[in-house]
Amino acid sequence: MRGSISKSKYILKILKSWSHLDVDAIILWWSKETVAVVTGGNRGIGLEICRQLAAHGVTVILTSRDPGAGLESIKFLSEVGLSLIYHQLDILDLSSINRFIEWLKENYGGLDILVNNAGINFNLGSDNSVENARKVVETNYYGTKSMIEAMIPLMKPSVVGARIVNVSSRLGRLNGRRNRISNAALREQLSDVESLSEELINTALSTFLRQVDDGTWASGGWPQVYTDYSLSKLAVNAYTRLMARKLSDRQEHEKIFVNCYCPGWVKTALTGYAGNNTVEEGADTGVWLALLSHQPITGKFFAERREINF
Ligand SMILES: NC(=O)c1ccc[n+]([C@@H]2O[C@H](COP(=O)([O-])OP(=O)(O)OC[C@H]3O[C@@H](n4cnc5c(N)ncnc54)[C@H](OP(=O)(O)O)[C@@H]3O)[C@@H](O)[C@H]2O)c1
Repeated sequence: MRGSISKSKYILKILKSWSHLDVDAIILWWSKETVAVVTGGNRGIGLEICRQLAAHGVTVILTSRDPGAGLESIKFLSEVGLSLIYHQLDILDLSSINRFIEWLKENYGGLDILVNNAGINFNLGSDNSVENARKVVETNYYGTKSMIEAMIPLMKPSVVGARIVNVSSRLGRLNGRRNRISNAALREQLSDVESLSEELINTALSTFLRQVDDGTWASGGWPQVYTDYSLSKLAVNAYTRLMARKLSDRQEHEKIFVNCYCPGWVKTALTGYAGNNTVEEGADTGVWLALLSHQPITGKFFAERREINF
């Protein structure tokens, strides 16, 4: 990796010295030595993100909570000529995360790209049950947060910056027309990146979960559609912005860019295969964000390769 950093530095220096050349014109910064970790890589959008990243020539570590399912996906990809690495990883299990950290350090010395794709949803069609709200919030928000905290110290120095891509959802928008928190003051606090804090996010989530427990959530002013899922993704979005702020003062070559995106409504198990988009379309913006050639872009929300409002 050190060799490839100094090679990229050298190329960057030459390109910068040609004043007519925009640094954004530098493409294909990655190589086989670039290591990407994808959570929930055994199926759906995660599997397709793994496939596309591997097809671009990146070393992809496909992770899944169930080794059988993960190894099956590795086999499936090998049949289309792609060679990926497998490791077990349950984002809700700290001992699994710790085993993964040790293995990653020992075998790859760290990572360049983290794609937080693992997620769950229990509502389909017009359902809006909160029966599994705690599990949804734990997985989609706290699991993603645990992975970000665990991986940041392992992210490799790089001239182009390491990248974190969080697979989120437009359902988690703060100011969505039909699906938002009704408390304007809370929306305001969550939308101001300066007032954002882990405590603020935790308090909103724990208030919702307490209301689920005592049966008062329906009048709590929470998002109206897929309430638990929407709130979990709203928290992911807020945490993306918070982390981008916290990581912004890292030195040159130690930069980590963190963004989130909505894959659209995709035909996967999570939607009961009822979406409009294919997994190829759903993975596209995530892979694009992971591989942007020069990326001072951080703390933003994307869909179809365009920035959208939180
Ligand atoms: N499909 C859509 O329309 C849509 C829209 C917006 C956002 N998203 C987001 O896209 C991401 C991928 O969803 P998908 O549609 O591809 O759904 P999916 O096919 O159900 O895949 C979800 C993946 O997450 C994994 N997972 C769940 N809990 C986990 C845990 N504790 N640890 C590790 N992995 C775990 C699942 O593993 P198992 O196979 O073991 O269950 C599976 O691999 C999710 O974050 C989802 O919220 C999807």
